[in-house]
Amino acid sequence: MRFTLGICLIIGALFSYAAGVDPNNFKTCEQSSFCKRSRKVQSTGSKYAIIPGTLNSYADSLTADLVNKDNHHQFTFKLEALMGNTFRLQIDEKNPLRPRYRVEHALKGKPATTQIRVQESQGVLSITAGNSKAVIHGDPFHIEFYEDDVHVVTVNAKNWLYFEHLRQKAAVQTEGAEGAEAQDANPDAIQPPAETHEDPGAWEENFKSHHDSKPYGPEAVALDFAFPAAEVLFGIPEHADSFVLKSTSGTDPYRLYNLDVFEYVVDSKMALYGSVPVLYGHGSQRTAGVYWQNAAETWVDIHTAETNVVSSLVNFVSGTRKTPPPSAHFMSESGIVDAFIMLGPKPIDVFKQYAGLTGTHELPQLFALAYHQSRWNYNDERDVATVSAKFDEFNMPMDTMWLDIEYTDGKRYFTWDKFKFPDSLAMVKNLTDLGRHLVVIIDPHIKRDNAYFFHNDCTEQGYYIKTRDGNDYEGWCWPGSASYPDFFNPVVREYYASQYELSKFKTVTADVMLWNDMNEPSVFNGPEVTAPKDLVHFGNWEHRDVHNLYGHMHIMGTFAGLLKRDPNQRPFILTRSHFAGSQRYAAIWTGDNLADWAHLQHSIKMCLTEAVAGFSFCGADVGGFFGNPEAELLERWYQTGIFLPFFRAHAHIDTKRREPWLFPERTRQIIRSALLKRYSYLPLWYTSFYELEKTGAPVIRPMLTHYPHDKEAFGIDSQLLVQQRLLVRPVMQQGVSKVDVYFPAIDDKKNGDYWYDVDTFERQERAGYVSVPVTEYKIPVWQRGGSIVPKKERLRRSAPLMLHDPYTLIVCLDRHGKADGTLYLDDEKSYKYRDGEHIYVNYEFEQNQLRNNFIGKPKYKSNAWIERVVIAGLQLVPKSATITVNGVSQQLEVEQQGNAVIVRKPGVKMDVDFALKLNY
Ligand code: NOJ
Repeated sequence: MRFTLGICLIIGALFSYAAGVDPNNFKTCEQSSFCKRSRKVQSTGSKYAIIPGTLNSYADSLTADLVNKDNHHQFTFKLEALMGNTFRLQIDEKNPLRPRYRVEHALKGKPATTQIRVQESQGVLSITAGNSKAVIHGDPFHIEFYEDDVHVVTVNAKNWLYFEHLRQKAAVQTEGAEGAEAQDANPDAIQPPAETHEDPGAWEENFKSHHDSKPYGPEAVALDFAFPAAEVLFGIPEHADSFVLKSTSGTDPYRLYNLDVFEYVVDSKMALYGSVPVLYGHGSQRTAGVYWQNAAETWVDIHTAETNVVSSLVNFVSGTRKTPPPSAHFMSESGIVDAFIMLGPKPIDVFKQYAGLTGTHELPQLFALAYHQSRWNYNDERDVATVSAKFDEFNMPMDTMWLDIEYTDGKRYFTWDKFKFPDSLAMVKNLTDLGRHLVVIIDPHIKRDNAYFFHNDCTEQGYYIKTRDGNDYEGWCWPGSASYPDFFNPVVREYYASQYELSKFKTVTADVMLWNDMNEPSVFNGPEVTAPKDLVHFGNWEHRDVHNLYGHMHIMGTFAGLLKRDPNQRPFILTRSHFAGSQRYAAIWTGDNLADWAHLQHSIKMCLTEAVAGFSFCGADVGGFFGNPEAELLERWYQTGIFLPFFRAHAHIDTKRREPWLFPERTRQIIRSALLKRYSYLPLWYTSFYELEKTGAPVIRPMLTHYPHDKEAFGIDSQLLVQQRLLVRPVMQQGVSKVDVYFPAIDDKKNGDYWYDVDTFERQERAGYVSVPVTEYKIPVWQRGGSIVPKKERLRRSAPLMLHDPYTLIVCLDRHGKADGTLYLDDEKSYKYRDGEHIYVNYEFEQNQLRNNFIGKPKYKSNAWIERVVIAGLQLVPKSATITVNGVSQQLEVEQQGNAVIVRKPGVKMDVDFALKLNY
């Protein structure tokens, strides 16, 4: 019976894959009692005040008690000054009936604090730390934050602070609440606010056939943040929506609740697989951000003027704006208020401030930045070998083959289907001999099969997430009946990590990397396709408190396992579910998209939002997961995918095979040339990831990052910057022969940077929209004048085989004939770079001369050398060039090619100082 139900559900899940998302399977704010209650405060307001005489100040912080003047419940609040223009605000109940959940593991460590100065004037307190200042108002309670005396954020600007204290269930509420567990009525219990009293969903809630028992009753927290210096808000991935957040007036709020949404729709505020509660407010003078550290289900209302960006900006004249400042209202189901207010002042500063809190992806192995070939599924060893060989036959580089769930023995992870994959080690060796890699999927659901060691271990040791009554929770997923390890328990994480050791997982090698999917967690028969909220985790926390962190804890286990397996190899993990800080462990992709043009367009918007929320290592299934892309869509998707950091083709099991050689010659050529372009830029991607690890600056960036004053650029999300070096505007519409590109302005007079077309070196000199003609081969990309980009231009079958290949430096000059740019290199695989075994160099071109400046001592021995220097933007063509190394000079030939000048074979090794002079 149970088995039949499982099959039906799985078939149901597969079928719904084909049928498209049914929004009715997911809650609206109205259907979520805490969202409805918290949102109601938007019309009534709340009354919180600091209790006079409770204030205490310390070297780096200030504490006080707060009271809710409606019900007299008391809270504590703490405001702490952190290094780097950031404040942390925490509000909790003073004496909660039971502790409230505080997020762990999202921050990369305990944030360093900084000294404050406290001043009081007319009952208003201000605390100053460096350039930043917080002005605290006691009644009504709100805090204004200033950066260099400019007011950038107000907390509780609208008095929408809402904090449902934990309470005893009052007798009156049990009456008529069928099935509710009656608790002792406590006559002394503080009466709940009217809105929870009246709300039938406060103590138990139903959605479809699912019941949420809510043993602790209502416990929502909510707070609003206004951004007085901002014009637009962005952030809070993951949603398939525009980069700039839209007003939610008249719609549902944006929802942050990790869910497996089949065939998600675009232009939607619905929840998706990841939740990163960081939001930024940007205006032409200032950028600030708020990280709302809460792992429970969260909804975010956005209040912005409903006009288009440009016309609302016109109203913003020297501080007197006609429209109210944009604001965001975060509403979470449980936990505490734990908000980090990051004061910028520039976009790049605030992105780095966030990275300073939650960390960055570490430098990946180079292969992970190259091309990944996946589908659900490569059927057997022969299939894998054939696909790998075909890439060689068609002269297309490819680095990594992926195996989806069908490789396992009946979806029992850490096992293999012995018929299809009798000798996985030989299969892996065939790949690694070619410099290629294999990634296998391992999901968190564990098949309930008492012949399966993993299930037996978890059952015997009590490692599964529990139901309210203490039993192992059982849901349905790919294997049928499944249970879910409680990764919040460090012992479970350790057990899990140890499964990756090669002495246990004998059928892989240390070169095989990991894909952790379905870790929202996805539960086919659970409420909203996930786990019930009243499940119980380690530490007695409810699933409600920690839901958005489940995938994060899963990948923490995997990451620890891969490091344990081989401490010298940098792990590569792809995860679907993610929370703030997950970027320290894994790359992400945008899940089950569709093979259509709108989803192609959203791949850029979504990854840009993820990038500013810490997830630079982001990509989308190239070709679209569901459906069969026609040739043109597939071509354009490859051309777009090569400029997203994670670059993988993937497809649903029911789609037609779509490896590039299965298409006509023209498509093959287009895809091949896109792949070559990706590989040629690997030195830039690699350098960018090194710099991400070092500084927290995103690898791909929205235009406003470097053009913060250009209002027209704020909302542009069809193009992206790779660092500050490339401007990419992929073709993402069907049948077009031109695209509109926006070249951002650097000043009010519409001056722009110089931008050089990377194929022709034709130059754009002015800011504004330009209609650029495109052919089917054309990928519109420009290099910024003033930058130097390192490339490698020899075709190899995989990235590791390029290790010692020579470099080409592309030098694009600015108005003053100058350019500079960094290059980073190391062994591309191990952690030796952490001991300084690398070369990090800044190239500078000035007064017709190119020089290198090493950043730190070059300590890595590379056989690579500089093969070519291409210079665009010279006024005159030089006659020759002279390269000087260690006082010895040599004459080099110079050749003009179209709009650029090429200096061939400078021949210098990468760790050698040189000067290359152009002669006229
Ligand atoms: C869902 C993932 O999003 C998809 O990429 C994968 O192919 C299927 N699960 C099967 O594992």
